[in-house]
Amino acid sequence: MSKLEKKVVKVAVTGASGHIGYGIVFRILNGDVFGKETKIDLQLIDINVEKVQKALHGVGLEIEDCAFPLLHNLSLHSDVYSGFRDVEYCFLIGAKPRGPGMERKDLLLENGQIFKIQGSALNEKASRTVKTLVVGNPANTNAYIAMMAAPDLPKTNFSAMMRLDHNRALNQLAYKLNKNVSRLSNICVWGNHSPTMVVDISNGLLDEEEKLNHLVDDGWVKSYLQPTVAKRGAEIIDQRGLSSAASAASAAIDHMRDWVKGTKWTTMGVPSLGDYGIPENIISGFPVTCDNTNYSIIENLTIDRDIRTKINLSVAELKNEQENVEELLK
Ligand code: NAD
Ligand code: LMR
Repeated sequence: MSKLEKKVVKVAVTGASGHIGYGIVFRILNGDVFGKETKIDLQLIDINVEKVQKALHGVGLEIEDCAFPLLHNLSLHSDVYSGFRDVEYCFLIGAKPRGPGMERKDLLLENGQIFKIQGSALNEKASRTVKTLVVGNPANTNAYIAMMAAPDLPKTNFSAMMRLDHNRALNQLAYKLNKNVSRLSNICVWGNHSPTMVVDISNGLLDEEEKLNHLVDDGWVKSYLQPTVAKRGAEIIDQRGLSSAASAASAAIDHMRDWVKGTKWTTMGVPSLGDYGIPENIISGFPVTCDNTNYSIIENLTIDRDIRTKINLSVAELKNEQENVEELLK
């Protein structure tokens, strides 16, 4: 039975009183992921610090005040072992964000610990089919840590958020072509959610037929599109003084909705099984298709030499991040 045929689903959100958490919970309860027919048991988690728990309680009060018809039950937690009990859909957002001048991988040692504990808690408490999206940075390697800390769960239950990069690329292309985003498809962002990410429009289409790389020139892709998307997170931190939150929440909604309800083509950060020569267990951005239960990496795409070189660099960075967390995973 597809999960969506169920009347009530159990959803957990970590970091629920943080900036992204505050953006996402109201949209989940509005039906933006599971649709307007599926009720939600929402399990909100934040750290066991008085001020933070008070803020989480405040979020709970606001949720009550929305009188969402889709809210079946709301519970607040300071402990992931209770917060992940029987969870079927899990947004792992709670983690420290970077500040100006930092790279996301600078957060690894501090944030990595969080995902080891959360992976173990999911292993013990979650539904065996739990769909997990890691948003906290560095998202790909944190997803790897959670996946490795959950040996009893299928690796395909774990994913990392590359959808914000995908959406950023889509919007830049739509703007350049002066076409609505809904008319563009089949682009993807390979590799790491870091400045080495690789925007690939070589299979991209307008209105499902015209090739995007016949409509925009390669020079623009290399000198504008790729660096704009790769540096967008830093640009937002520079302008807002805070990292992206509403757009990140929106991308997380898109990621989970497409995983749950299906899509012909999107980007997800998922573990490699050796696909496209990317070593097993590296969590990389891949082009994927989703039926209403599982994702599959889209196979047999031709990758040109330049894109291949860039993917190799991004994958080397991911391998290096993995090596840096080997001790943590012991
Ligand atoms: P924030 O500081 O506003 O909120 C983080 C929240 O997480 C806080 O409420 C904090 O108490 C909580 N938290 C910390 N450790 C926790 C734990 N062990 N369990 C549960 N909750 C915990 O930060 P934010 O703006 O919401 O960003 C959260 C994370 O998402 C950051 O790491 C940020 O870099 C990342 N992010 C990723 C993407 C992406 O595209 N992958 C996009 C934007 C932000
Ligand atoms: C983003 O891409 O906006 C997030 O990963 C936040 C960041 O640190 O850039």
